Amino acid sequence: MAGNIASVRHSAAEIGAAGRAARRGGRLPEVAAALVIAVDGPSGSGKSSAAKGAAVALGLRYLDTGAMYRAVTWWMLEHDVDLTDPEAVAKHATCLTVDVSTDPGDERIVVDGTDVTASIRQRRVSNAVSLVAAIPRVREHLIAAQRQIIADASAHYGGIVAEGRDIGTVVAPQAPVKVFLTASEQARAERRTAELASQSDAGRPLSAEVTREEQALRDRLDAPQTRRAPDAIQVDATLLGLDEVIGRIVQLAAAHRSER
Ligand code: DC
Repeated sequence: MAGNIASVRHSAAEIGAAGRAARRGGRLPEVAAALVIAVDGPSGSGKSSAAKGAAVALGLRYLDTGAMYRAVTWWMLEHDVDLTDPEAVAKHATCLTVDVSTDPGDERIVVDGTDVTASIRQRRVSNAVSLVAAIPRVREHLIAAQRQIIADASAHYGGIVAEGRDIGTVVAPQAPVKVFLTASEQARAERRTAELASQSDAGRPLSAEVTREEQALRDRLDAPQTRRAPDAIQVDATLLGLDEVIGRIVQLAAAHRSER
């Protein structure tokens, strides 16, 4: 597959194909027990594509925790809640139900009964979500939901690949396989530009400079949440293709299973 993972936006079909190709590689011993894989890293490093593809390859469920923070943020924007008032945001957020699909082939997220799968990718949501994600009561509420989803997937589907910022450190520190995915600023900004260009409501394309500035601001705001677990394997995706990153995660899962 052409292009490195961090600077190219992959379609769902490409991610599924890469995942299935890795599965056909036949490197996996039989499933013994439920497996939880934590994939953390900054925005634009390609962790969603890699985590989803690895879930397809390994026959596991997939959880995009960033989508949950985005869904709550979308709801706040839609209901004109003042995002600079943490009390108000937390009061509403803790009453919201966020239903997220864990099927890696069917991305879907519903907040308070509204399907927001597409709307959560809007630029207005991307630029506001860090504020919402920084509020401790919002995090507690969503982390509890994420732990429940991980427990259900472990009980009923053999495990899950969960991606975000704090999966390996806070949400599921017990996960036996942890990856921290990074990429150069430039590659991440290119990926974000491609992502925005693919959205129908994106409006005028952003200059590379504006994209980089927005990314730098998000990095700063997300920094307290974005933590590498001491036992996480760091993977620099700057020059790696999607299938190579999926292959790394699958290898780590295989190594863990053969140790058991
Ligand atoms: O990965 P993403 O860009 O969709 O994440 C959206 C926002 O949510 C981002 O500002 C970081 C935040 N986030 C978080 O604080 N903790 C997570 N586990 C996942 C995302």
